[in-house]
Amino acid sequence: MDNNKPIGVFDSGIGGTSIWKEIHNLLPNEKTIYLADSKNAPYGEKSREEIIRLSMKNTDFLLDMNCKLIVVACNTATTNAIWELRAKYDVPFIGIEPAIKPAAINSKTQIIGILATKGTLNSELFHKTTEMFQHIKIIEQIGYGLVELIENGQIDSAEMNQLLHSYLQPMIEANIDFLVLGCSHYPYLIPQIRTILPDHIQIIDSGLAVARQTQNLLSQIGFNSDNNNQPIFYTNTNPKVLQNILGDKYNVQEKDF
Ligand code: SIN
Repeated sequence: MDNNKPIGVFDSGIGGTSIWKEIHNLLPNEKTIYLADSKNAPYGEKSREEIIRLSMKNTDFLLDMNCKLIVVACNTATTNAIWELRAKYDVPFIGIEPAIKPAAINSKTQIIGILATKGTLNSELFHKTTEMFQHIKIIEQIGYGLVELIENGQIDSAEMNQLLHSYLQPMIEANIDFLVLGCSHYPYLIPQIRTILPDHIQIIDSGLAVARQTQNLLSQIGFNSDNNNQPIFYTNTNPKVLQNILGDKYNVQEKDF
């Protein structure tokens, strides 16, 4: 294994940058290539077959770029396609699953909320996870419209605020003490969510856990050992929204894939 190969990260769009940031913070010497398939966002409303097809297309692109491991920085793609990806390709994959376990273990009210896409909440992997915590009441809410607004750069819009209120109010009334963000786009909504939720409700996402898993896997397959670690970002739509999220420090390239 050539240690200096890049880590590939893909998502249905810009949301997976929340995961990429954690990986880059924890492993600043690693080269990374981020792929935003924004042209096909959201994945959450697509059929399982289509999610698998798109995940393989993204993987093929990253393998053509010589990646040594692939992070599926999309909950919907992980919960619907990770088994097929692992079966088809030799490269190691790290996926992102909703952080049900830490919320369930630490909940005092034994009631937790999860906000995720339809594709994630309907997946077999998600059902298998929740079955392990049958003593916990899990309030599931599909985040209809949230990914579309984030992809359109409308994170702070009135429409976003109204949707979040309508999704979170029933969870507050049900007495949740943890809210699990089960979509890699949603960490960008934490400032708005925080203004809606009472202080005692904790918000959990999976970004840091994925970065730590990546670090553990690299300890087996090899860390980068040169200094050429400038990240590369590709998107297949107008790069403006991804560029805004990342700031001027990084250069986003538009590419047809
Ligand atoms: C989506 O594309 O619908 C959301 C991505 C995710 O589930 O993380």
